[in-house]
Amino acid sequence: MKAKLLKRKEDSYIRNLAEPLDLVDFTSNDYLGFARNKTIFSNAFELLKERGVTSNGATGSRLLSGNHGLYMKLEEILAEFHEVSSALVFGSGYDANVGFFSSVPQRGDFVFFDELIHASIRDGIKMGNAKSYKFKHNDLEDLRDRCLSKSNRSTDETEIYIVTESVFSMDGDSPDLRKLSSFCIQNGFNLIVDEAHAIGVFGEMGKGKVDELGLQKEIFARMITFGKALGCHGAAILGSSELKSYLVNFARSFIYTTALTPHSVATIIEAYHYLISPKGVNSTQKLRENIDYFKDRVHVNGLDSFFVPSHSAIQSCILPGNQHVGSIAKNIQHTGFDVKPIFSPTVPKGRERLRFCLHSFNTKTEIEKSLEILSHNLNVYG
Ligand SMILES: Cc1ncc(COP(=O)(O)O)c(C=O)c1O
Repeated sequence: MKAKLLKRKEDSYIRNLAEPLDLVDFTSNDYLGFARNKTIFSNAFELLKERGVTSNGATGSRLLSGNHGLYMKLEEILAEFHEVSSALVFGSGYDANVGFFSSVPQRGDFVFFDELIHASIRDGIKMGNAKSYKFKHNDLEDLRDRCLSKSNRSTDETEIYIVTESVFSMDGDSPDLRKLSSFCIQNGFNLIVDEAHAIGVFGEMGKGKVDELGLQKEIFARMITFGKALGCHGAAILGSSELKSYLVNFARSFIYTTALTPHSVATIIEAYHYLISPKGVNSTQKLRENIDYFKDRVHVNGLDSFFVPSHSAIQSCILPGNQHVGSIAKNIQHTGFDVKPIFSPTVPKGRERLRFCLHSFNTKTEIEKSLEILSHNLNVYG
């Protein structure tokens, strides 16, 4: 442990648990401000009162004592809102991805994943029995080549899974989901899309990218999370009723864990109610305006070449080197803006970055100032 920790320090990549900074938020995933929304907070409390729920905890796994009534209500809301047959709620997006990828692809199957895919998907794949290969980021040609060269369908039962994110968590960019989906349909492959950073940001009423493109029926499974734009905690897998039943029976991160508390589930339900209300729609609209404004100011400040092209709430400014990006982040934080550096190996070496997470509640002045300060720092420190 000592040697590994020392190496991390030498690489300027030691992780510490720090107190939250009371600065302008350009870091959290609370894209719509729902985590701090008082209406959602009090409506969740009212819902619990209305239903006579007074328990503090779920008391067990969903397969034992933890499957309280609010779960069924939430899963119905999710299936209807996201236009899918079934939804299964997990304790977190990490659990959902690990549960899915460790159990659904079988020995003899193949999983092809984007090289920048989230750690939870990689971990799930590692725990499973299928062969897996990465393909170049958002590169359909590379995926096609790899599928041809690596996967020989030995039997009719061999399944091929392709997994991507509709908004990548570190780059904020998106694959061409339309092309990817038709490639999968033509070849009989199963497409899985992680929509963690697209919910609340894209699509009608923030339904996500798959909805925006009308691909609901073409995707084998979608993963959505509640800890980002919904401002709560937890996640769900959206797919067929058969998939739901399979996961209930075989996904170990679903089976062997205590269910979410009634309070957590009530908060997710109320966050969804708020999302579709006029105020919720207004928050989504404000977020989109802020994304456009941010991109505009990046251009005005001559910073385009530093930023990864992205239309999402995640805007990454590439500043290679852990020390370099760390010290620029500190300088910006000293001026009142909470912008976090993302170090390697979380991102590939040479692709270290400042990641700006934008919100509906950020003001135009905050966006202008933070980018002016960034620009000044880049002029001084290169
Ligand atoms: C793309 C992606 N998938 C899954 C997760 C995991 O979700 P959760 O934070 O709910 O565990 C995250 C968040 O870190 C993510 O960015």
